[in-house]
Amino acid sequence: MLKILTLVGARPQFIKAAAISRAIKNSFSDKIEEVIVHSGQHYDANMSSVFFEELGLPVPNHIFKLQAQGHSGQTAEILNQLEKVLLNEKPNAFLVYGDTNTTLAGALAASKNHIPLIHVEAGLRSFNKTMPEEINRILTDHCSSLLFCPTKTAVHNLKVEGIDHSAEKCSANTPKVYSCGDIMYDNSLYFSKYVKADVLNKNSLENYLLFTMHRPSNTDEPHRLKSICRMLMCLADKHQKTIAFPVHPRTKKALLTHLNVKELDAFMHHRFVRVMEPVSFTDMIALEKNCEMVITDSGGVQKEAYFFEKPCLILRSETEWVEIVEQGVAAIVDVSEDKLNRSYDLLRSKSLTFPKLFGDGRSAEFICKKIVEEIQ
Ligand code: UD1
Ligand code: UDP
Repeated sequence: MLKILTLVGARPQFIKAAAISRAIKNSFSDKIEEVIVHSGQHYDANMSSVFFEELGLPVPNHIFKLQAQGHSGQTAEILNQLEKVLLNEKPNAFLVYGDTNTTLAGALAASKNHIPLIHVEAGLRSFNKTMPEEINRILTDHCSSLLFCPTKTAVHNLKVEGIDHSAEKCSANTPKVYSCGDIMYDNSLYFSKYVKADVLNKNSLENYLLFTMHRPSNTDEPHRLKSICRMLMCLADKHQKTIAFPVHPRTKKALLTHLNVKELDAFMHHRFVRVMEPVSFTDMIALEKNCEMVITDSGGVQKEAYFFEKPCLILRSETEWVEIVEQGVAAIVDVSEDKLNRSYDLLRSKSLTFPKLFGDGRSAEFICKKIVEEIQ
C-alpha cells in the first residue's frame, strides 16, 4: 500500500483534490492510502469547509492554523508545520496542486525531506514573474519527480526549462512528465449532475454575466480596481445585463479599502450588480452554465467557462490557458474598457466552437494509475 500525503489549502485545491480522492475511493483503495493535510491558507466556511462537505472530500488528517497573512510568513508557517507531519507520517510520496503558497511550501518540505513530489497541474506559465503564482509553480515543477500536465502547452513549457520525461525510475533528477488532461474537467463533468437552480432563483438571475476577480494585480491596485468596477457598470448599463458577482474575501476587503463611500455604494448597489458571498462549487457550476458570458481573472473559472461552452473575457494581461484564447472563445481584455466592449460584442456575434482540449474527464484515474506504477 502506498501512503500519499496530499496537501491542500486554497479553494481551487479542495476542488481539484476531490477528483483524486474520488478516484482513490472508487478504484485504488487497495493500492493508495491518502493522508490529507489542510494548510489553513483558506479558512472561511464558504472558502473551505463547504467544499469538503459538498464534494465528499475526506476530513483532513491534519489542519494547520496560520497566524501570518503575508506571503513569506504564510509559506514559512506551512513549511514549518509540514516538516513535523512528514516526519510522523513518513509518506511514500507527497502530492501538491497548482501554484499557491501552500503548493510552494509543500514542494520545499518534500524536497528537503527527500520525499518524491507529485505536482498536479504542472507546466503552466504566465511568463510574468511579478505574479506570485508564477514563482510558486516554477519552483514546484523543478522539485518534482512526477509531473502531471493539463495541456500540451504545459508539457512544452517544461521541456523548454529542461524538465523532460525521463526513461529512468522517477526522481527529482530524472522526472516523469505526463500529459493527462485537466482534473478540473473531471469535476465539472461529475458535479454537473448535482446542480440545482436555487442560486439563480435566490438572486433573481437570468440574462446575466458572471464576474469573479481576486488577483492582487487587480484588487491591490486601486486604479485598476476602480477601472474594473467602472467598466463593468458601463457594460451592464449599455446592454441591460445583470452582473452576478460572488466576491472573494480578498476582493471584498480591497473594495472596502480602496473605494470611497460614494464609489463603493455606486458599485455594490448598482441596479445591475448582484454581489454575493462566495458560493459552493455546484452553485458556481449553476452560475457558469446559465450565464451569457464569464468575466474573470481566475484561472479555474476561465477554464470552466470553456467546459460549459461560454465565452470568457479575461481581466489580465496574459493567461496560462492560451488554448482558449487561440480557440477564439476567450479574449484577454486586461483593464481596457475598449477591449472589453469590443471583445464582448465580438464574442456575442460570432459562432463559437469548443472542441475538447482538456482531456476526457478521466484525468484523476490516469494520475492514480501512474502514481501506483511509478512510486515504489
Ligand atoms: C490564493 C492564491 C491564488 C489562488 C487563490 C484562490 C497564493 C499566492 N495565492 O490567493 O493563487 O488563485 O488563492 O482563491 O497562494 N481571506 C479570508 N478568508 C479566507 C481566505 C482568505 O478572509 O478564507 C482573505 C485574507 O485576508 C487573506 C486574503 O484573503 O489575507 C488573501 O488570501 P490568500 O490566501 O493570501 O490569497 P488569495 O488571494 O486567496
Ligand atoms: N469557485 C467556487 N465558488 C466561488 C468562486 C469560485 O466554487 O464563489 C470555484 C470555481 O468554480 C473554480 C475555483 O473555485 O473551480 C476557482 O478558484 P479561484 O477562482 O479562487 O482560484 P484560481 O482558479 O484562480 O486559482
